[in-house]
Amino acid sequence: MLPLGGQRSGGSRKRGGTHSRRRAAPRRELLPLGGQRSGGSRKRGGTSMSRNDELFTRAQRTIPAGVNSPVRAFRSVGGTPRFFERGEGAYVWDADGKRYIDYVGSWGPAIVGHAHPAVVKAVVDIAPKGLSFGAPTEIEVEMAEKLCRLLPSLEMVRLVSSGTEATMSALRLARGYTGRSRIVKFEGCYHGHGDSLLVKAGSGALTFGQPSSAGVPEAIANETIVLPYNDLPAVEAAFAKEGKHIACIIVEPIAGNMNLIMPRAGFLLGLRTVCDKYGAVLIFDEVMTGFRVHPRGVQGLTGITPDLTTLGKVIGGGMPVGAFGGKRAIMEKIAPLGPVYQAGTLSGNPVAVAAGLATLKEIEAPGFYDALSARTKALTDGLASAAKRAGVPFAAQSAGGMFGVYFAAAVPDSYDAVMACDKARFAKFFHAMLDAGVYFAPSAFEAGFVSAAHTAEDVAATIARAEAAFSVLR
Ligand SMILES: Cc1ncc(COP(=O)(O)O)c(C=O)c1O
Repeated sequence: MLPLGGQRSGGSRKRGGTHSRRRAAPRRELLPLGGQRSGGSRKRGGTSMSRNDELFTRAQRTIPAGVNSPVRAFRSVGGTPRFFERGEGAYVWDADGKRYIDYVGSWGPAIVGHAHPAVVKAVVDIAPKGLSFGAPTEIEVEMAEKLCRLLPSLEMVRLVSSGTEATMSALRLARGYTGRSRIVKFEGCYHGHGDSLLVKAGSGALTFGQPSSAGVPEAIANETIVLPYNDLPAVEAAFAKEGKHIACIIVEPIAGNMNLIMPRAGFLLGLRTVCDKYGAVLIFDEVMTGFRVHPRGVQGLTGITPDLTTLGKVIGGGMPVGAFGGKRAIMEKIAPLGPVYQAGTLSGNPVAVAAGLATLKEIEAPGFYDALSARTKALTDGLASAAKRAGVPFAAQSAGGMFGVYFAAAVPDSYDAVMACDKARFAKFFHAMLDAGVYFAPSAFEAGFVSAAHTAEDVAATIARAEAAFSVLR
């Protein structure tokens, strides 16, 4: 295991981490256990229906399962998804006016908290000048320069509008560059919903027990070699057999889509060595970890340099921005310099890029990651202690502003171990916390996210509410 963050299970505890600077954000009083409801349920035909229920019923008429991305549907935990009306700092408010301490943070982008004044101002300032031109702008050059400065492995970078586009483009580029067709990915890692990558994938694909999607032609799926995460001998064996056909390895260098799974010591270095030996491209998918765990991503944290990196989430600050970049010799294969085609009408649009740049400016503040990591570790330490007091088998760990909670006796470090966690208990815990005004990811297979806007009081309130939830679970 890497010494990346706190990890606790049962009684053994690592203490550390300094206590942190608090960002001056607009704050509301903390709620008593149970959160706050206002104007909640209405009578409909004699039965009482909350506004969330009403919206969910209405949404399902025109949107498949009522949601625009599967995990939002709450299928693995049951119940009605919360429709959010607004967010501010560490909090979100649902359609019934109930406030939650939010540990999803839009699945990672909200690293400085919701509606951060500097990010909102950047959007408001630039929007009146035009939303998109489909032509180059200065601000996207600034973004490219900033990304290349923050991640030294990026000699060139291209902007896109989502993490999925970034990984799909990086794969095509790796294939075009090497002239090979096969790719290696790891079980439980999610890299967006591109055909080649929806094979034994994580996140929503895993949540619904369909890690491989219908509609992916067998011929494409056959080009994807899926190996167990953290199993270097399996990687070496696959390359020994098929190395000359393998274009790339794509990996979440800290996996966050099968809950949070850390790379074992030597795993990432081993991938680097194998790629060098066989002339394959090493792609770090840092869409989630990029600027989440460290100012230089997992590559900065570990000192292991990929050939290509994919980014998203934080670099858009809540707006649609993704990016892929890396070695000049590879990036120069992209059209129109080279033969690998890739394009996007809205790529690099000024409004989204402005939000991303404002976010990146915030995270460069001195001490930002020390404070974020300490707060996140305080949360996971506190949750593990509360579970222990309640006698509930539970473990937790963190990496920067990402965390994992597991209904298991120890922190898992493989796909199989994470699959063995108690999913039914997670669902009960999730709902107890939701009722108590704390919003965790509605799936046992997602990492959680803390923002710089979460205060020590937010964390303490979360732990107190979890303590009550654990006592019921026991
Ligand atoms: C590691 C990783 N790669 C790629 C993606 C896809 O990004 P997007 O949802 O922006 O398409 C995600 C999304 O969660 C992700 O976590």
